[in-house]
Amino acid sequence: MKVLVAGAAGMLGRAVVAEFSRRGCQVTACTRNDMDITAIETVRGKLTAARPELVINCAAYTKVDGAEEEAYQAFLVNGLGAKNLALACREHNADLVHISTDYVFDGSKEGPYGIYDGTNPINTYGRSKLWGERAVAEILPRHYIVRTSWLFGLGGRSFVETMLRLFRERSKLEVVDDQRGAPTYTVDLAGALADLVTTRCYGTYHITNQGLTSWYGFARAIAASVRSPVEIIPCSTAQFPRPARRPANSALDPFPLLETIGRLLPFWEDALARYLTKNRCE
Ligand SMILES: NC(=O)c1ccc[n+]([C@@H]2O[C@H](COP(=O)([O-])OP(=O)(O)OC[C@H]3O[C@@H](n4cnc5c(N)ncnc54)[C@H](OP(=O)(O)O)[C@@H]3O)[C@@H](O)[C@H]2O)c1
Repeated sequence: MKVLVAGAAGMLGRAVVAEFSRRGCQVTACTRNDMDITAIETVRGKLTAARPELVINCAAYTKVDGAEEEAYQAFLVNGLGAKNLALACREHNADLVHISTDYVFDGSKEGPYGIYDGTNPINTYGRSKLWGERAVAEILPRHYIVRTSWLFGLGGRSFVETMLRLFRERSKLEVVDDQRGAPTYTVDLAGALADLVTTRCYGTYHITNQGLTSWYGFARAIAASVRSPVEIIPCSTAQFPRPARRPANSALDPFPLLETIGRLLPFWEDALARYLTKNRCE
């Protein structure tokens, strides 16, 4: 299969390029320099040249706090960029995988969010991602909108990398304990995407590693894995004011992922252990 990946130099983009290449796809990996998704004629030109059957959009404006100051940039990339890809895919008869986020929800629900639950983003990043989802769904029937959460993986800025750095710099650390979600390894997500696109079961999906934790729980697991002596103290979101509000509950219900690809992703603790082992070898 001929696949074009947008945002190929990003954390998820790298894992997606590696996974689809490993499975024998002919992959055109587009970094921001190769294809700025906010420029429709550039996007059209790339698809004309590469003639992909499938486009995977891993490109995004991902600075959650930065988006509060740079709203135009967030909407440009996450909204208009996604719309441009959907338009070009329609013109070239290509399927589109569009990656979205748990931050389209407000986090006020008790249990995990299903794909059928109403969205209500509480920050600019979430609003921009929701516009991207809607543009894709309006323009292109043959789409997979995949919401994920708390990504970590090689070659990117992630909570895991931030913690590993802070463990080296500090002996004591306060970490937020009242937001919960599912840490997700880019390698596991990429594998699920590769399974999903063979099904032709278009629509919206929630794909994360299994299990839930808080940022505090996640930090403790990272510290335990690397045997760091750092002291980690739980704190509340209110004690750590940030420019963007975050949902307290980011849990995503994977239904109907199991029914569609026949499996769920491994638990996040298992994913973290594999990542840290791989990270140490690179
Ligand atoms: N990271 C998370 O925790 C998380 C959680 C939930 C959902 N997601 C979603 O998962 C997807 C992948 O995220 P990630 O963590 O891999 O992000 P990332 O590492 O920030 O990668 C995003 C990539 O998109 C590129 N990009 C930005 N603007 C572009 C443009 N106009 N045209 C083309 N490329 C552009 C960036 O290039 P530059 O570096 O040059 O700007 C970067 O390489 C995104 O859709 C994100 O919203 C992420």
